Amino acid sequence: MTVAALRAPLDIQALRAARAAAAIGHAIEHFETLGSTSDRARELAEAGAPEGVVVIAEKQTQGRGRLGRRWESPPNRNLYVSILLRPAIDAEEAPLLALVAGLATAEAVAEWAPQAQIKWPNDVLIDGRKTAGILTELYTEAEQLAVIAGIGVNLNLGLDELPPELRDKATSVYAATGRAVDRAVFAATLLSKLEERYRQFRTSGFAAMRQHWNARSCLNGHRVTISGAGVTQRGKVIGMGDDGTLQLLSEEGTEMRVVAGDVTVLDGYGSSVAKQE
Ligand code: BTN
Repeated sequence: MTVAALRAPLDIQALRAARAAAAIGHAIEHFETLGSTSDRARELAEAGAPEGVVVIAEKQTQGRGRLGRRWESPPNRNLYVSILLRPAIDAEEAPLLALVAGLATAEAVAEWAPQAQIKWPNDVLIDGRKTAGILTELYTEAEQLAVIAGIGVNLNLGLDELPPELRDKATSVYAATGRAVDRAVFAATLLSKLEERYRQFRTSGFAAMRQHWNARSCLNGHRVTISGAGVTQRGKVIGMGDDGTLQLLSEEGTEMRVVAGDVTVLDGYGSSVAKQE
């Protein structure tokens, strides 16, 4: 693939053809510029669009991340995608979908960078640097739950294109592996992995994929602090529970379960992906 082709808009016809008969991606809106793909997906949800509708933008002017952060969204390099899901689950179970989407995204990135890992709750890292992030937002309309899964993946971005303050924390698939990514092929892979894991979640629950999630977790066995809601917890990560909580062992030997928060790793990341069954 030439550099010029890499920097062109993604091949939306090829992507639509690849997903035409699928449950996720049967209809794909594609924009050159949007404020946020998740805002557009919400408009579609409010207008009654069916599950599996997807919005992609080449560039976002108001890309948003978790915890009120901004998501850098320069044009034609990366993937900014939001997916409308309408799961028949209780709102309390919806946070598990963020973990499901994180696993699917890590598995898609791993097709180009096999060492891809997940940092709880759902960042995807290559060699300890963030490559993808996921923001799931919930809406209830007429007692029906709508979930917008917004996924941003740095694909062909050069390291020199990242803001200086992110250069030691973030990367792209291309910067980390030297492999240029056909973004339409990546998007088709991501939507297909998400469809697979989402189906598994609906039929068998998160427990069915917990081992796969744990095998990709960069935190297991590491000492961390987790801050959120004015509380900081410190301990060694044991792994992910069937209920989607992160299990920690405190220095005093007490087991703790953490529902949400921002993780700081105190002793560096693991560098290898554990063998999956
Ligand atoms: C994070 O903070 O890690 C989550 C980042 C999520 C970014 C994606 S890009 C597509 C979608 N649209 C947005 O405005 N945000 C999400």
